[in-house]
Amino acid sequence: MYGHDFPVPDDGPAGGLLDQVEAAEAALRTAADRGRPGRDPAADTDPQDYFTALIDADQKIEPRDWMPEAYRKTLIRQIAQHAHSEIIGMQPEGNWISRAPSLKRKAILLAKVQDEAGHGLYLYAAAETLGVSRDELVEMLLAGRQKYSSIFNYPTLTWADVGAIGWLVDGAAIVNQVPLCRCSYGPYARAMIRICKEESFHQRQGYEILHVLAGGTAEQHAMAQDAVDRWWYPSLAMFGPPDGDSTHSQQSMAWKIKRFSNDELRQRFVDMCVQQAGVLGLTLPDPDLRWNESRQAYDYTQPDYAELMRVIAGDGPCNRQRITQRRRADADGAWVREAAEAYAAKRAAERTAVPA
Ligand SMILES: [Fe+2]
Ligand SMILES: [Fe+2]
Repeated sequence: MYGHDFPVPDDGPAGGLLDQVEAAEAALRTAADRGRPGRDPAADTDPQDYFTALIDADQKIEPRDWMPEAYRKTLIRQIAQHAHSEIIGMQPEGNWISRAPSLKRKAILLAKVQDEAGHGLYLYAAAETLGVSRDELVEMLLAGRQKYSSIFNYPTLTWADVGAIGWLVDGAAIVNQVPLCRCSYGPYARAMIRICKEESFHQRQGYEILHVLAGGTAEQHAMAQDAVDRWWYPSLAMFGPPDGDSTHSQQSMAWKIKRFSNDELRQRFVDMCVQQAGVLGLTLPDPDLRWNESRQAYDYTQPDYAELMRVIAGDGPCNRQRITQRRRADADGAWVREAAEAYAAKRAAERTAVPA
């Protein structure tokens, strides 16, 4: 927990999760100090065996290491999808920068959206260590050959949506991403530590927006409730299909890219939100949500996975708008990239020029 300017349950919206990020960071340092399992170059160890030994020893795989092609491809797909989500995710909230209700809210939202651009950059940089260029990845996004999170294909209809996105969408993102701080691929794990620290702040700002609205006038309270009603199930869907239908999970767990199943993480998120909704004085739109004593967890209604599949396939409320906007931004920014390249080339030429 970062402060106490509004009442939250004991360990706050992201307090417990942030502790896990700190622990992952400490584990990263301990593993580095412990050193990697020995490899005698002369003994001609099978690279696959050494890769497995590194994973078993909870050491990180680094860009210089040999890795199975499928591991590399899985990581590129996952990191790229993650990077694209950060960038496309700037749009729904960017929609409210010019209409934020006060200068303070505007400054906070601007900083948040800017953070997301930064997350995109860390992640593209992490993907590049796997031998793919950022240009290639952006091209694949624009051509619809790589995905971004389905959640960003929903519209932001009111100011309260900015709060609901921070609380629920950034909240679901952190629950998903905290275990990635222990991912076996070093550059991804390190990027995630930094990202999760910022995401927990995003979640808190969303929670605070909703807290103010929920405690305001009847109209403001209704607006907050309406936003939560609309974002709840799409947020649950962010954890992906149920475990039985999840295609990549098993192998990703064996490689220690992924540490928990989709359903485990979804449950964790639900349990966290119920308590927080209570503090907000808002209701989660699920009449079947109730504590299950024997499971020590909440029973809840699953999101509509058929809808998730439709949105992933391109038929969500805003898919076309998001990609059109991204293509336009890419085209509008072409001159900046060209100018930066020309400037870099000029500087390089100046540096190598032999003084007369
Ligand atoms: Fe982010
Ligand atoms: Fe965020």
